[in-house]
Amino acid sequence: MDNPVSFERRARIGIITIDSPPVNALGHAVRVGLVAALEEAGRDPQVEAIVLNSAGRIFTAGADIREFGKPSQAPTLPEVIAAFDRSAKPIVAALHGTALGGGLELPMGCHYRVALAGTKIGLPEVKLGLLPGAGGTQRLPRLTGAERALDMIVTGNPVEAAEALELGIVDAVYPDGIALDAALDFIEKTGVDKLTATPVSSRTDRIANTDPAVFAAARAKLAKEKPNLFSPQRCVDAVEAAVQFPFTEGLARERALFQECMASPQRAGLIHAFFGEREVAKIPSLPAGTPLRKVEKVGVIGAGTMGSGIAMCFASAGIPVTLVDAKPEALQAGLANVRRTYEGNAKKGRISAEEAERRIALVQPAESVDALSDADLVIEAVFEDMELKKKIFAALDRVCKQGAILATNTSTLDVDAIAEATSRPQDVCGMHFFSPANIMRLLENVRGEKTSDDVIATIMDVARRIGKVGVLVGVCYGFVGNRMLHQRGREAMSLVEEGAAPEQVDAVLKGFGFPMGHFAMSDLAGVDVGWRIRQERRKAGAPDAIAPNWLDRIAELGRYGQKTGAGIYRYEQGDRTPRPDPEVAKILEDYRREAGIAPRPIDDQEILERCLYAMVNEGARILEEGVALRAVDIDVIWLHGYGFPAYRGGPMFWADQVGLGKIHDTLVALHDKTGEPHWKPSPLLERLAKAGQTFASL
Ligand code: COA
Repeated sequence: MDNPVSFERRARIGIITIDSPPVNALGHAVRVGLVAALEEAGRDPQVEAIVLNSAGRIFTAGADIREFGKPSQAPTLPEVIAAFDRSAKPIVAALHGTALGGGLELPMGCHYRVALAGTKIGLPEVKLGLLPGAGGTQRLPRLTGAERALDMIVTGNPVEAAEALELGIVDAVYPDGIALDAALDFIEKTGVDKLTATPVSSRTDRIANTDPAVFAAARAKLAKEKPNLFSPQRCVDAVEAAVQFPFTEGLARERALFQECMASPQRAGLIHAFFGEREVAKIPSLPAGTPLRKVEKVGVIGAGTMGSGIAMCFASAGIPVTLVDAKPEALQAGLANVRRTYEGNAKKGRISAEEAERRIALVQPAESVDALSDADLVIEAVFEDMELKKKIFAALDRVCKQGAILATNTSTLDVDAIAEATSRPQDVCGMHFFSPANIMRLLENVRGEKTSDDVIATIMDVARRIGKVGVLVGVCYGFVGNRMLHQRGREAMSLVEEGAAPEQVDAVLKGFGFPMGHFAMSDLAGVDVGWRIRQERRKAGAPDAIAPNWLDRIAELGRYGQKTGAGIYRYEQGDRTPRPDPEVAKILEDYRREAGIAPRPIDDQEILERCLYAMVNEGARILEEGVALRAVDIDVIWLHGYGFPAYRGGPMFWADQVGLGKIHDTLVALHDKTGEPHWKPSPLLERLAKAGQTFASL
């Protein structure tokens, strides 16, 4: 392989260039190259100053994440940065695009930093369950002061070059052009002789008078907002060390804390989530070079909450949308939702008022599908009614141009049956958005039996363009996410039936790391929604239909959740906090008595195992059937659509950590005890468990 780091001299300036696509990660070969290039610059008597820059679209994405968890190979990143820090010749780092993690720690080991405008600069390690372990927690406070450094390191959020200049992270910002030229210009304007090789590590002026209260405040805030996370608290410890100890001691403390984070299972889960998000975009069965269809105009049918939310996904990405609804008042309500959302975003300062207007103008109303004759992609988002959907698709078949992609947003109906209503099933697919569609990042792209490869490639690309995490799934009831949710829901309901309180079940799930419990989520989505689905499944005689239960009673009373002020919980006016309701306790008591159920105390472990193992078993069936391509696809769906805690990596990754043998044995025990078919371990789970293997090994 070519050396990913090159050195050249231009007059009195030595230029070190990293060129390691795609993101100039600081892997072993780059580190070796950096040390060699620095030595060459040091040896060359004509070199008086050095520029460090990178080729490609970004400066560097930092440490090579793929090396984490493997034995480290010298020179390590801290060793490389120490060599830069010690250089007798001043070094100017030239930043562009993105300078993240080690990609900022290395420049902070240089003596000056210049950046092109718009460069994103930050230390995102905390998002991977880590802390900056190559001096970042010690050098950043020396540039910005401890409080700002703490904020950047604990949130992991980057700042743009202009703010970095204000904060003291960079010394100059250049409007555009090439970062190397900016650095050369900076040297020329400053004068080579005036540059000094004063390392950031030797500075103490910005941290000298740090108020220790900032650390106590940060710890208290984290304990409240991120009680389950390990690395943010370690970030605070590390930054505190920067103000408490001399540089070298602080660095040693940072290293020890970094190693603790590295050993934490949360780090493994978060890194799985990081790569998983990228992995799902790769569809192994698609031939290389599958062409993409053009998608420049979109139609959305149905102007309800879902339809107008989907329309906003496209408008936000600058893609014009025609929003169709045959009912003028529904259309107006949909447009009003679009306007209200964008104006709200502008008010909160998330986008400018002009941008809000531009997005609003991109959504054009129409009362008939006839307006969609030139749409490249049409997404139907009407009520879940097969006959209605078939009618709409037959109409689209008549109206839409050849090659248009026809997608349904159904969450329960058979995409293949819908496709058969057209003469072009190869152009039909599912695009299952999650509510609120303009916010939730997950998009289940559904491949029908006849959907063509280029349609699949295109909708995966569309997901990327509109900022969603698109995951390809096959046709089945509920696809991947809701099919597994159904399992969790059934167990949650049974547990309450048997004696648990809804708030106990929710507390266990929240304790596990879900942002809200199952029943609080039902109240948010509407108890009537699940009720209607259960009724339909019973009517259809579905094998997984859930027998009438206490939750139906709650729905029958019109307790639909937050929207009616009461559901499984009660709510106070203007407050979304779910509060246990004595009335529900009474309903449960009556229900159990009438059903002849003697309530028993249920421990938290049983709740967790039944809720989650049921999901894992279903996930295994989904894999077996090929409805999900890989275990990681299921993980990503649950991370982005259902609030599965990212630090646990997703349900299948989590199952691997628990041990498939243990899960298998628990399922067998539940099956033996209850005789319920759903507790029978799926053949795949059984095979993996018996062979001592994992889902990751598939
Ligand atoms: N180490 C190893 N691989 C990395 C990487 C890193 N630090 N950062 C990105 N990659 C890989 C991605 O996995 C992807 O690989 P693939 O093409 O095989 O899927 C490829 O580089 C491109 O990354 P992607 O995220 O798709 O590109 P992007 O342009 O959308 O985003 C970044 C670029 C840098 C913003 C983004 O990759 C990122 O945030 N990286 C992590 C930065 C970080 O946390 N650094 C600290 C490490 S401790």
